[in-house]
Amino acid sequence: MTIENRIQHLLSQMTLREKIGQMVQTHSTSDANKDLVRQGLIGSLFNEADVEKVAEFQRVSIEESRLGIPLLIGRDVIHGFRTIFPIPLGQAASWNTDLVEKAARAAAREVAPTGVRWTFSPMVDIARDPRWGRIAEGAGEDPVLASAMGAAMVRGYQGEDLSHPDSIAACAKHFVGYGATEGGRDYNTADIPERTLRDVYLKPFKACVDAGVSTLMAGFNEIDGVPASGNAFTLRQILREEWKFDGFVVSDWTSILEMIVHGFCADAREAAREGTLAGVDMEMESTCYLDHLESLVASGEIPQARIDDAVRAILRIKFRLGLFENAMPAVPQAPFAAREDDLALARRLARESCVLLKNDADLLPLGKSMRSLAVIGALADSPADQIGCWSFDRHLPDIRTPLAAIRDAVGEATEVRYVRALADEPAQSREADDAAIEATSSSDAAVLFLGEGERLSGESHCRAFLDLPAHHLDLVKKIHALGKPVVVVLITGRPLTIPWVAENIPALLVAWHPGTMGGPAIADLLFGDHAPSGKLPVTFPRTVGQIPLYYNHKNTGRPPIEVERKMPMGTPLDPVGFCSCYLDAETTPQFPFGFGLSYSSISYGPTEATVEGDSFHITAQITNIGSRAITEVVQLYVRDLAGSVTRPVKELKAFQKISLAAGESRIASFLLRPDDLAFHHRDGTYGPEPGEFQAWIAPDSQGGTAARFTLS
Ligand code: BGC
Repeated sequence: MTIENRIQHLLSQMTLREKIGQMVQTHSTSDANKDLVRQGLIGSLFNEADVEKVAEFQRVSIEESRLGIPLLIGRDVIHGFRTIFPIPLGQAASWNTDLVEKAARAAAREVAPTGVRWTFSPMVDIARDPRWGRIAEGAGEDPVLASAMGAAMVRGYQGEDLSHPDSIAACAKHFVGYGATEGGRDYNTADIPERTLRDVYLKPFKACVDAGVSTLMAGFNEIDGVPASGNAFTLRQILREEWKFDGFVVSDWTSILEMIVHGFCADAREAAREGTLAGVDMEMESTCYLDHLESLVASGEIPQARIDDAVRAILRIKFRLGLFENAMPAVPQAPFAAREDDLALARRLARESCVLLKNDADLLPLGKSMRSLAVIGALADSPADQIGCWSFDRHLPDIRTPLAAIRDAVGEATEVRYVRALADEPAQSREADDAAIEATSSSDAAVLFLGEGERLSGESHCRAFLDLPAHHLDLVKKIHALGKPVVVVLITGRPLTIPWVAENIPALLVAWHPGTMGGPAIADLLFGDHAPSGKLPVTFPRTVGQIPLYYNHKNTGRPPIEVERKMPMGTPLDPVGFCSCYLDAETTPQFPFGFGLSYSSISYGPTEATVEGDSFHITAQITNIGSRAITEVVQLYVRDLAGSVTRPVKELKAFQKISLAAGESRIASFLLRPDDLAFHHRDGTYGPEPGEFQAWIAPDSQGGTAARFTLS
């Protein structure tokens, strides 16, 4: 029997109440919920870590409910389960879809034996505001990079065959526009015109649907007055009718009930009606569906066919996962030991996620034969801060901190003087400051660990200020004044505003929250066993006053004039005024999207564009002009010079990671198809528009040389 026949057969035996039960999801393993499972009134259990409780609920569902339909067990496995990989923003900085896919596969393989066959990942919300704590969970500001990362994760989690016991269903979230939250404040309103919604925010979701994602999660936010969890335009018209998605949609945590608070629904009954009719098939945590769907069907406000569609979609995923054959957890209890090959993968991905932002006079890599090295900063030795947000299942003893890894790397010959200064505490102890200064002045060099700990990052962890704490910066300045070689490693879940550090400290490496093997990965780079290859997936602003600041913005009629001005407030406008600038800050970022250095330099030859059928061949010679082998993320950007609506100043279209030996040259080559130039026109149609374009093959969103081409 085909899956569709099995679904139909099962559906024909279900009462309305049992059908509604499939649409109910809870995280609580209370006795009352166990009884609901027995009655067939819960379809999914999530975020229960105790494998025995999961097993018991699953057993009751299979053995004691009338139809024996297995539960779908969900969990937030966001960047690893037992083996923790870098936060997703860090993974995106690797630009390595192959490694990202492998990491998702490893996470699936680790979690599946515990009975969890569904993760609420990938988060593919485009985020242009680093104040938003959840920027850590996604791939940053660009739709093409986020699409590539999202699709890679979907492939990794779901594997070649969803029914394989190592595969888990993925969930692309949060559909849609959650990352456009006003002011970077979580759960806030998103105001997105339909064209931007389609050309920017929806793109990575479409890529996940094309990659076969099983489920989507509806967001907390509203879009243009309609909550995402009650939004028929996005959930029905776009997702089902235009994209033909055949999996199911789950709400976010109580987001159906919250439609009352939004002022969109008068009560829970109306919320159940709006959520269901819009296309949210399963309600997470709140019980509007359980309490009201039966009467809504009885009154004719919700057609029976809509309930059948929702249940069909949920059962489809349960059948595809093979849950009717095998749903019981295979292991008695998590966590179990991490595998060596997974740890090696975590180390490699963490290494490729690190971005070298500055390296004056080739200060890095450090030699291993120093007599002494000062390592300053609590973030160097705090396991939890290597992990970052969303990892319920981490096992802190597994985590190799940077301090431990630095000690391992340099061996006995170098004395490592660690000082736990720069802690994430309101004030700093005078003793720690003095010790840090003393350790630096008596060492050959110092590595400072700065940034934000995990408790400042993630859901509901938004920040109005992105500067380093003032007392941290004071100490950094004092250490810098000692005249020793100083390297800063930034441990962070988001771009921070670090103008003084960027201007004064000679070497700066961003490691994000790098995961279980972050320490060894950082040491690999600091001491030159490997060379950095990461590039920023998000712009680093100079000050929060510049936000939102993203590379693929519009040009305006009065773009900023090249001469950057930085004048005290109150200064009369100077002659370069009347353009889109600030009086008191630059318009350029501290570090642009796509930027990252290595231990060698690449020179980019002129970009050339040639016609190839209906497409364009864009090429440039790239040469490693330094003395060591490196890997470069080569980026292709395009600008459509005039459109029926204005077009961004640049858009990433494709990228490649190319390895080059010292002195080696290669031709980087991209095939640009008309479809790559498509966007939504003034009349709403989609496609490329004829006209002039500019293409850059570039090391980042600001570099490279442009070639023109014409699409006729
Ligand atoms: C988050 C989701 C998450 C869910 C379940 C919500 O608060 O927004 O991303 O998957 O909780 O834990």
